[in-house]
Amino acid sequence: MAASNEDLEFDVEVDAEDLPQGGPTDSTMGAPSVIVNDLHVKYHVVGAKVRSSAPTKDSFLKKVLRRGKSVAGGHTTVHAVRGVSFVAHHGESIGIIGTNGSGKSTLLKAVAGLLSPSEGEIYVSGVPSLLGVSAVLMQDLTGERNVMIGGLALGLSKDEVNERFDDIAEFAGIGKAIRLPMKTYSAGMGARLRFAISTVSTPDVLMIDEALATGDAAFRQKSRDRIDEIRQEAGTVFVVAHSLASIKAMCTRVIWLDKGQIVMDGDPAKVTRAYREFTKGERPVPEPVKK
Ligand SMILES: Nc1ncnc2c1ncn2[C@@H]1O[C@H](COP(=O)(O)OP(=O)(O)OP(=O)(O)O)[C@@H](O)[C@H]1O
Ligand SMILES: [Mg+2]
Repeated sequence: MAASNEDLEFDVEVDAEDLPQGGPTDSTMGAPSVIVNDLHVKYHVVGAKVRSSAPTKDSFLKKVLRRGKSVAGGHTTVHAVRGVSFVAHHGESIGIIGTNGSGKSTLLKAVAGLLSPSEGEIYVSGVPSLLGVSAVLMQDLTGERNVMIGGLALGLSKDEVNERFDDIAEFAGIGKAIRLPMKTYSAGMGARLRFAISTVSTPDVLMIDEALATGDAAFRQKSRDRIDEIRQEAGTVFVVAHSLASIKAMCTRVIWLDKGQIVMDGDPAKVTRAYREFTKGERPVPEPVKK
């Protein structure tokens, strides 16, 4: 069954030898495409359970009746992104790394306009596309129908989707499965179709949250080539991945997030090395970068 975008967040380590070395060059870098200025994003969780120190004297029946309803007054705020600032340029592909819960997906969703900043500003030149068309894809419908839904959601007309259907199907490379409901797909097949749909029109700013991790080696190569093409066409690509080898191979720059703050931003080899040392316990997290 095809998983939702959230379910696709696996830690897949790739052998560094399998990947092209050196990474893309900086020669295509152009004007700013995304400016994020002192961004804060908070989640307000309503209905959070309030722990009372005094034991409640409610009857068993009352407790049963209340079950499933949000507790009045229960309210928690999660401050997921805390003062992030950076400028991304046309032609850059930026890797975002950090431990689980460090705010990577939240940052991408905010840049894509799916979450509003609590504070700070985000400027995006052009149309951002978060590789999460999964949000609109329907598991009970066939891949074919989902290509139409995804294409329309990305702003293409019906005719434009029909025109590009063969290209999308070929890129996804899932064969006759395109005629089957998406719920019958493996996680990798779902990821391939999502990638194919969301890159059908060259987005100005493409954001990929872990989706490549589930693809096989051949598909990863194809996706990497497509990302390079988008960069050549002056797009900006953000990639969230836990595989440092993939990040190094695909990105011209890497941002390390920790507890919602940028702690390092720069050369992929340097930032991924520091992060690896941190995960091995060989170094502490650097102080947040102040801009
Ligand atoms: N919808 C939500 N409601 C409340 N809190 C949320 C929500 N989504 C994320 N959070 C919280 O925000 C913080 C950042 O989460 P986020 O998903 O951005 O992390 P991440 O870096 O993408 O992690 P992962 O590597 O696990 O994907 C976490 O503390 C998480 O619990
Ligand atoms: Mg995430």
